[in-house]
Amino acid sequence: SGYNVAIVGATGAVGSRFIQLLEYETKLPINSVKLLASKRSAGKQLKFKDQMLTVEETTPDSFEGVDLALFSAGGSVSAKFAPEAVKHGAVVVDNTSHFRMDPEVPLVVPEVNPQALKRHHGIIANPNCSTIQMVVALEPVRQKFGLDQVICSTYQAVSGAGQSAINELMTEAQQVLNHEPVEPKILPVSGDEKHYQIAFNTLAQIDVFEDEDYTHEEWKMINETRKIMEDNDLKVTATCVRVPIVVSHSETVYFTTTDRSATPDDIRAVLKTAPGVVVEDDPKHQVYPQPINAEGKKDTFVGRIRRDMDNQGSFHMYVVSDNLLKGAAWNSLEIAETLHEMNLLHVQD
Ligand code: A2P
Repeated sequence: SGYNVAIVGATGAVGSRFIQLLEYETKLPINSVKLLASKRSAGKQLKFKDQMLTVEETTPDSFEGVDLALFSAGGSVSAKFAPEAVKHGAVVVDNTSHFRMDPEVPLVVPEVNPQALKRHHGIIANPNCSTIQMVVALEPVRQKFGLDQVICSTYQAVSGAGQSAINELMTEAQQVLNHEPVEPKILPVSGDEKHYQIAFNTLAQIDVFEDEDYTHEEWKMINETRKIMEDNDLKVTATCVRVPIVVSHSETVYFTTTDRSATPDDIRAVLKTAPGVVVEDDPKHQVYPQPINAEGKKDTFVGRIRRDMDNQGSFHMYVVSDNLLKGAAWNSLEIAETLHEMNLLHVQD
């Protein structure tokens, strides 16, 4: 016997990665997989192993008999249906930001704070993609040397804004190469007033502008990092930038350790044995992480580790990971696998 799993948002960019991972890459015993999306996709057939599964419209009844529900269909869908899934006895792992800052909801990266899972009441939030890869790389350093301050700049792939943003980049790139006019409609934020070209461009806006002229994405990185690390005094800030890349986010991370005696070799040594981290750092041989190499992989790749020349105990590093896998589907599934190992996930009678 195994779990009955539902994927909400199965036709989306993250949904497709959930399907791939559940096919052959999970330790979780699976009994059945149910593909849920909006009414628009109902009836669509998607391949799962050697069968074709029919996508169904998401309704409250969809969660009858579901043990584990993986949500990635937008905040409003989670707001509406995650409580329904919990009512039906399912455990929800939610990829949207809707529940992340709710004090009752654990916000979990299994390499960093698996213990928070014990406090769950049916919903577990998967952090923002940029936050996940940053904390995976910082937590081992924090454990060993302490952490005072973090300043991050991101270079984020368009897939973080969904399948329609991927399509927009591809279309615009073709149009530019064909010397045709581009007509941006989605990026930087589909719901915002203005839209700008992403092909052959960068956009210093991810999500809407909020307090103090920070974007929502930047606030997510600040607030979520503090919640995951359980350190409200941590100095952490970010500048989030969209780049014309389909998959994998890159980040430059500047950090100051509490123990000012740490050396770059110390940092490298800690990261070499850290779970979920692969160090790719060999400047002599031009080795450093790249988005195209990280795509399809579950790890977080770290390179360019070096001391800050002005501030003792401060360092720079470059952190790259597949935003749809460790940033979303894989982290969520790893949460489910960890729940299973901790005996916190159950097959219903
Ligand atoms: P659909 O394909 O039917 O629109 P992405 O992040 O790539 O944009 O994907 C969003 C996912 O969320 C898609 O699978 C989409 O399904 C799904 N979705 C959007 N709106 C709803 C809704 N109201 N109910 C259920 N799923 C939804």
